Amino acid sequence: MAGVMTEPFTIAVDGPAAAGKGTISKALAAQFDMGHLDTGLLYRAVGALTLAGVDPIEAARGLTAKDLERGDLRTPNVAQAASKVAVIAQVRAALIDFQRAFARRSGGAVLDGRDIGTVICPQAEVKLYVTASAEVRAQRRFLELHDKGLDVSRRQVLEDVKARDDRDMNRVEAPLRPAEDAVLLDTSELDINTAVARAIAVVENIRQG
Ligand code: CDP
Repeated sequence: MAGVMTEPFTIAVDGPAAAGKGTISKALAAQFDMGHLDTGLLYRAVGALTLAGVDPIEAARGLTAKDLERGDLRTPNVAQAASKVAVIAQVRAALIDFQRAFARRSGGAVLDGRDIGTVICPQAEVKLYVTASAEVRAQRRFLELHDKGLDVSRRQVLEDVKARDDRDMNRVEAPLRPAEDAVLLDTSELDINTAVARAIAVVENIRQG
């Protein structure tokens, strides 16, 4: 177990849908006793409010902790809505301060998303870019949704993942791409324990600097 840190220390974990960012980020936060923020949830909450008729910019500006606790945030519809509102500059701008404050909390923080290493925390001490082939990611997401009892087909999940990749990578505002100094972790051929062990090793190396 790593020693407890009191200084801010930011670990940015970016990558496309269902690459393993969430699992890796939670494991890093547990290993190093840091806070964890799944920034995708912010966009999912705005997307869900937009589906309910709220203006996306108003939704982002007025987002509350309660909005992040909705039960439907992990559904495919909300995922698509999230990536649609995520192209809007004012939506992204409204969410910056909260993310940056979280990133510098004492004791360290792991943030996972699309633009953490490039836009939100370009000075992050550790940057990881987690990826995997679209087919592998779609299969993982299919199993996840299926386990939750959602009625989805493999083909539909693959199409959704590709549509989101396309929107996230080709938007003007904060497009998904690895920061120049990010460490790439391709999890296509790795089981989750190995992927987590590699991520921990990257952080250990940088901390021992
Ligand atoms: O869990 P998964 O990787 O499928 O998605 P997510 O991280 O919950 O993100 C949902 C959507 O929010 C993404 O497809 C992006 O469009 C958007 N997002 C973003 O633009 N920037 C972030 N930092 C995080 C998410």
